[in-house]
Amino acid sequence: MTPELAHDLKASVRTIPDYPKPGIMFRDITTLLGDPRAFRRAVDELVHPWAGSKIDKVAGIEARGFIIGGAIAHQVSSGFVPIRKKGKLPHACVSMSYALEYGTDIIEMHVDAIAPGERVILVDDLIATGGTAEGAIKLLRQTGAEVVAACFIIDLPDLGGAAKLRGMGVPVRTLMEFG
Ligand code: PRP
Ligand code: ADE
Repeated sequence: MTPELAHDLKASVRTIPDYPKPGIMFRDITTLLGDPRAFRRAVDELVHPWAGSKIDKVAGIEARGFIIGGAIAHQVSSGFVPIRKKGKLPHACVSMSYALEYGTDIIEMHVDAIAPGERVILVDDLIATGGTAEGAIKLLRQTGAEVVAACFIIDLPDLGGAAKLRGMGVPVRTLMEFG
């Protein structure tokens, strides 16, 4: 990615101070999504390392991961699998508890969404502590998936999520960092 493109993509993300609570700098990707050139370039850049390799499924994490993940699945001609918060999916599910800043929550995926050995790219808009993505990787591996990579538009490196995923043996691709 050229420095100019990296700069333009980062400039297309809007920052909302003190949302959803005081002290949080909320990185709002709706402005990137609403910019046709930025949206296309972000999707192209995220999947660039896997162009030409066989990807069976893209797994997107609710909710913003659905938007990016759907576009990436189309780009790599794979299926799309939603990973959702507990109680949202209609068929039998596998579940995984994951760490939040305070406490835990549960994510789910349909039990038959991925066959053993399928090559999967995990997608979300942003990685912070990595708790959500760690839970999603455990869920995918529980079904026998090979997690080829995890892709995020935004990394908050101070919170250590990308390092955590690399420690699990998953290559991580991100397009920009915010300190
Ligand atoms: C955000 C973001 C990631 C997660 C990252 O989702 O879209 O899924 O937090 O945080 P982590 O790396 O510390 O786990 P959120 O939980 O706000 O849900 P939403 O997309 O449904 O709003
Ligand atoms: N999810 C966790 N931290 C976030 C942040 N700073 N901006 C947007 N989404 C987030």
